[in-house]
Amino acid sequence: MGVFENPSFCLSGFCLFMHKHDLVYLTEDASHDAAIEHINEEAFGPGRHTRAAARIREQGPHDLSLSFICADDGETIASVRMTPVMAGDVPGHLLGPLAVRPSHKNRGIGRELVRIAVEAAKRNGSEAVILVGDPPYYGPLGFEKVAYNALTFPGPVDPGRVLVVPLGEDVHGRLKGTIGWRK
Ligand SMILES: CC(C)(COP(=O)(O)OP(=O)(O)OC[C@H]1O[C@@H](n2cnc3c(N)ncnc32)[C@H](O)[C@@H]1OP(=O)(O)O)[C@@H](O)C(=O)NCCC(=O)NCCS
Repeated sequence: MGVFENPSFCLSGFCLFMHKHDLVYLTEDASHDAAIEHINEEAFGPGRHTRAAARIREQGPHDLSLSFICADDGETIASVRMTPVMAGDVPGHLLGPLAVRPSHKNRGIGRELVRIAVEAAKRNGSEAVILVGDPPYYGPLGFEKVAYNALTFPGPVDPGRVLVVPLGEDVHGRLKGTIGWRK
């Protein structure tokens, strides 16, 4: 379509054409692997594999059906993954990594990916969505602090950054013990 066929705004013969971005949110599949690897490398660097949450992800695969990407005009520019975990006696999901390419930050894409992933987990019967992250970012998205040191990760974590969206009964009371990958 020619640019003059699709004016966004016209006044007194003057037309303003908005740059069009086609953002789509899709369930992750294997074709996204290389782009996601690049996004996470760019966001977290080589040290990302040593983090406690990454060690859980090394224990088993993430759940493709609950993991999502955002694409802009066909290019994958953001990703969130969800890994099934047992946390104490709560069958839930570990959210992360969440990353948005620098070119696309601060447009609400990260928040939207979190919202979609939490909704999908809820529909799937997950009892909790857990992550290690910044409370000021995740708090407004429904995440609450887990009691200090209630969960033992396979590596050190800052206990003030362990957060949960409780989806089942008495989740906070049951989040006690180790957290690890589950089938
Ligand atoms: C964190 C990240 C996923 C946010 O994605 P995004 O699409 O840019 O974020 P959104 O557009 O949804 O939200 C932007 C808002 O969050 C704020 N924000 C971003 N990162 C934040 C953080 N770590 N702590 C608190 N607020 C944060 C921004 O300042 C902005 O605030 P505003 O709406 O008041 O202007 C993205 O910056 C990123 O990929 N960072 C590098 C990887 C990372 O740190 N991932 C999270 C691991 S816990």
